Amino acid sequence: MRPLKGAWLVYLMGQGLKLPMLNGMGRTDRIDNWWAQPAVMGIGLILAVLWTLWRVVFFSDHIDYDVNGAHVISPMFSPNVLDWDMFSGWDHPSWVNAAVLILWIPFSFRGTCYYMRRVYYRTFFASPVACWVDEPEINKKIGYKGEKRLFLINNLHRYFLYMVIPILLIKWWDITHTMTFSNDGYGFTGGTIILFLEAVCLTFYVTSCHALRHLAGGMLDRWTTGISKVRGALFSKISIINRDHGFWFWISLILVFVGDAWTIACSKGIINDFSLVLIGGA
Ligand code: FES
Repeated sequence: MRPLKGAWLVYLMGQGLKLPMLNGMGRTDRIDNWWAQPAVMGIGLILAVLWTLWRVVFFSDHIDYDVNGAHVISPMFSPNVLDWDMFSGWDHPSWVNAAVLILWIPFSFRGTCYYMRRVYYRTFFASPVACWVDEPEINKKIGYKGEKRLFLINNLHRYFLYMVIPILLIKWWDITHTMTFSNDGYGFTGGTIILFLEAVCLTFYVTSCHALRHLAGGMLDRWTTGISKVRGALFSKISIINRDHGFWFWISLILVFVGDAWTIACSKGIINDFSLVLIGGA
């Protein structure tokens, strides 16, 4: 019986086959488009940073709009803490906006995400850029030193998780504002659909977090009785969505920008959002 291809690979690796096969940055025996994924991800991250900078620093108007009394806010500027009572009357500098005050939390959460670490090590440090592809000589000299110096901040991921959970809840709260009309009716708008999709994907992203999975049950030795059994069950459930953590990372990130672009377009009158009253309404 012929052994499977994968079985041969495992057999060869077990024989101490040295990887990567070819020396020199980017050299490899791979014949697929191994560079496509890191290239697309690198471009995506750069665009995300540039858009965020432009929005937060140079164009912080048009962050929300009203349609039939329902209020829609850009995901990038939510929660708009400057509207909160505790900040009312604060004579803040003109460059301070809700994103300046809040965005560092989701930014740090995403920046220290285990999946994100893999992405930036591949795309920006080429360490390595892909499996079985050689890395730059400088990487070999410096070597991977673990989570040290600046990268120590990665160890705070769990605390950023704690901080991002209230923001996630507020995003769900934002959706209720997009569904409440001035004529005492309830329904939905285009903004409701976009914010809802963003909140769903963000919820999957946060609840599939490796740190949350560890906290839920991964830190226990056994899940046999009582609360440990419940935590074991929770661990198993989180493990299922954790498999697609990377997907939830990207789709929830993309929807932040889709929501922001939608808000700008509606706020400037380029798009006219609709309102559909389903319950009540005078
Ligand atoms: Fe990615 Fe926690 S590991 S959000």
